Order: sequence, then structure tokens, then C-alpha cells
Amino acid sequence: MTKLEELISTAVEMRSRAYSPYSRFTVGAALECADGTVFTGCNIENAAYSPTLCAERVALGKAVSEGHTSFRRIAVAGGGPRPCVPCGVCRQMLLEFSPDMEVICIGECDNILTTTLRELLPYSFDSTFLPE
Ligand code: THU
Repeated sequence: MTKLEELISTAVEMRSRAYSPYSRFTVGAALECADGTVFTGCNIENAAYSPTLCAERVALGKAVSEGHTSFRRIAVAGGGPRPCVPCGVCRQMLLEFSPDMEVICIGECDNILTTTLRELLPYSFDSTFLPE
């Protein structure tokens, strides 16, 4: 298992890769798979705004496309003093794969909130609602 401090500093470092000329809000993510592999992401914005990808979904896309579908935890680092929590879309995307994963939210000045996806997205919609 990756050391927590390592996962956090990877997420923080990934903020420097953000492409966010519109919001100027930089986010980095480090997603740890069940086997310990770590995939990283940063937010990628677009002039048309809505195609914007969050850091978490970039990391998730990289992981899933490489054959990883089970996750232990994700560290998310954003600008500002408050720990950066994943948006609703990212919560839903992550929940598809690992609803019980840990979520480590990081703000500047080492302000950290540790929670779980279930706590962040209660009463969530998942595949069990769909007909077989
Ligand atoms: N953003 C993320 O990358 N992850 C989050 O958890 C929250 C928001 C990005 C999207 C956009 O590029 C910028 O932050 C401002 O919303």
C-alpha cells in the first residue's frame, strides 16, 4: 500500500499539471487501486466549458482503461484553504467501481478531510436499480 503521505503529495504535485485557464482553480488527484497501483489526474478545462474533466475522472479513466476497476482510496487536492471535495459527477463515477473507498480531500496549508464515498453520496443510484 502506498503511504498516505505519498498519495497526498502526489495529488498536490498533480495540481501543477492542471489545464484550468478559465476557472484558474487547479486540482490534482491520486487514485490508489486495490493492488496498490496509483493513477494520477488533473483537471482539464475547455473553452466550451461543459466538456471540462475533473482531476478525479481523469485518474479514473486512466485506471479503468488500463484494466483497474477496484479502488482503495483517492486523494484530491485543490486550491484554497478548504479541503477539495469531489463534485457530484465524480462521486457517481467513482461509486460505480468502489462505493466503500476512502476519499482524502486536501486544501492548502495541509487542511485535510478524510471521508468515504458512501458518506459523500448517500442513497445513491447504482446498477442494482436497473432491470436484469
Ligand atoms: N474540479 C475538479 O477537478 N475536481 C473537483 O473535485 C472539483 C472541481 C475542477 C473542475 C474545474 O476545472 C475547476 O475545478 C473549477 O470547478
